[in-house]
Amino acid sequence: MSNAPTNIASSSSDNIAELESCAEQTRRTLLLGALATTACLGCSAPVRAGEDAPGSDERPQKGDLLVFSEGDSEGKLIKAADLTLGGPPVHAWPQDPKTSVVRSASRLNELLIIKLDPAELDEQTKARAVDGILAYSAICAHAGCPVTAWVKSDVGDKDVFKCMCHNSEYDPREGAQVVYGPAPRRLAALPLALADGSLSVAGGFVGKVGGAQPG
Ligand code: FES
Repeated sequence: MSNAPTNIASSSSDNIAELESCAEQTRRTLLLGALATTACLGCSAPVRAGEDAPGSDERPQKGDLLVFSEGDSEGKLIKAADLTLGGPPVHAWPQDPKTSVVRSASRLNELLIIKLDPAELDEQTKARAVDGILAYSAICAHAGCPVTAWVKSDVGDKDVFKCMCHNSEYDPREGAQVVYGPAPRRLAALPLALADGSLSVAGGFVGKVGGAQPG
């Protein structure tokens, strides 16, 4: 007697079991997917590799903190005590105090922070300073190079900010006005405030940020 019907029956019940198992697995997968979706409804979208964090390219906002943009302390908060009277300046980024996002996705946000004797500052400059501490855009107004040097001026005895691309010089005591070189205008200034020893931004840039012509 042939075993075929038995085999067919057995194969059929195996198939049914397999289908049921498959259906159950699909149901569980759908359920888990729905749960995962529900659980993530309140989540913000993750920042994918290569994407900038939201807000990281926005200009400095009132209340932003300042962090070192280079050196051993890169990313750390800048305190008034970190600055040396008379310079050199430190380079900084603004940081959103709520999200801790550092606004470093735009190079136009890099800042020079310097501490000077308040008695040396003109009235307008003094009004934007806190305890003689000043913030300026680190981007040269000529062709947009970074302003990197703090050196004795070519036209006086004082130390000044200098852009080494075409030698423009800016005096931070007088609102970073141009004292030498081809830059057509002063560096943009950023008003500062001080709370619990930490520096923060007191308002938006005063003046235009960036170079007037391509390098
Ligand atoms: S870009 Fe700074 S002097 Fe030309």
